[in-house]
Amino acid sequence: MLAPLLSVRHARGTCPVYVARGALRSLATLAAVHLPGRRLAVISDDRVAAVVPCPIEAPRFLFPAGEGSKTREQWARLTDQLIVAGFGRDSGLVAVGGGVTGDLAGFVAATYLRGVPLLIVPTTLLAMLDASIGGKTGVDTASGKNLVGAFHQPVAVVSDPDTLTTLPDEELGTGFAEAVKHALIADADHFAWLEASANRLLGRDPDALEALVRRSAAIKAAIVEADEHEAGRRAWLNAGHTVGHALETGSAYQLRHGDAVAIGLVVEARAAEAEGIAEPGTATALERVLQRFCLPTRVPPQISLEASVDAMQLDKKNRNGVVHCVFPARVGTMSGGTGEGWTHPISVHVIRRILDQAH
Ligand SMILES: NC(=O)c1ccc[n+]([C@@H]2O[C@H](COP(=O)([O-])OP(=O)(O)OC[C@H]3O[C@@H](n4cnc5c(N)ncnc54)[C@H](O)[C@@H]3O)[C@@H](O)[C@H]2O)c1
Ligand SMILES: [Zn+2]
Repeated sequence: MLAPLLSVRHARGTCPVYVARGALRSLATLAAVHLPGRRLAVISDDRVAAVVPCPIEAPRFLFPAGEGSKTREQWARLTDQLIVAGFGRDSGLVAVGGGVTGDLAGFVAATYLRGVPLLIVPTTLLAMLDASIGGKTGVDTASGKNLVGAFHQPVAVVSDPDTLTTLPDEELGTGFAEAVKHALIADADHFAWLEASANRLLGRDPDALEALVRRSAAIKAAIVEADEHEAGRRAWLNAGHTVGHALETGSAYQLRHGDAVAIGLVVEARAAEAEGIAEPGTATALERVLQRFCLPTRVPPQISLEASVDAMQLDKKNRNGVVHCVFPARVGTMSGGTGEGWTHPISVHVIRRILDQAH
């Protein structure tokens, strides 16, 4: 049988994470092992259902592809469908899809009959190396993303990088941005490998994609394991995201998440250098690797810096109205974890000046 790459330890047990080309062929066996005796239901979006073959004999519950489906309405609809189909406490859910499917199906699993087990089969690069690991589930509301949710650790994660062959280029790009973030946080060698392997990865070399998911998922798993409920160093995973989220809001969500994170990583690293926190050259190194992945490193001219800076002042990491960011110390190492905590206060004027220069 396929061996897991790693197991994420959490408060209630462990979650094995399988990452291997062809892993989908073992899915029925793995579901029998990790959801023994369970009546299975598969949850997917309609696009994934059309392109990813899921070898599990079970009823399928579909929803329309896209972030627009990560809502309480879809949560209610899927839950009602399971009830009508007679799924009881002995059910086990299998989420096959990207981060939207994992978050939505995960929230259904967390709440259905007060919680049923969930197995995640991520099919986007972002979901394989990031969203499927850590047990966060939830939906968006009109006021913002991920505002309603729960922690619910999956019983297993099964990633088959071969499913990425049908993924649109821009979705692959989002995954690369988060992969660069993971390397920045924790692994300078992996950062160098990413830069050297960019062409193979962009060309979807399947072995390179498998190697990327394995290393990047391991970085995420180690951080989550050390801090399951986000009291401390899990904040590092927000690298690039304080500025990134602000730019997404400032662009009225016209900027893609991965593009916003790429720009955010560079802007935050420049701010960290200006504050004497990051080694000089950190931002330039980030710029170089992100450009290799055809990701933007400057703010597109049509984005309003005013709206972006306003959005930053509402960031949930702010304390006493002061913007807080996690900052790199250098490539492969984050700053923080002592004294003041894991985040650093930063003046919005500094961020504004750097945004102006990068506009
Ligand atoms: N829970 C977490 O810790 C966590 C972490 C990061 C992001 N997220 C969430 O993840 C979501 C984004 O995830 P995403 O980028 O995977 O988006 P997604 O799930 O919407 O997938 C992107 C698009 O790709 C399609 N797709 C998926 N797999 C495919 C395949 N193999 N071939 C062809 N098309 C495919 C989907 O149908 C969709 O249209 C956001 O809602 C974000 O909040 C959660
Ligand atoms: Zn992100």
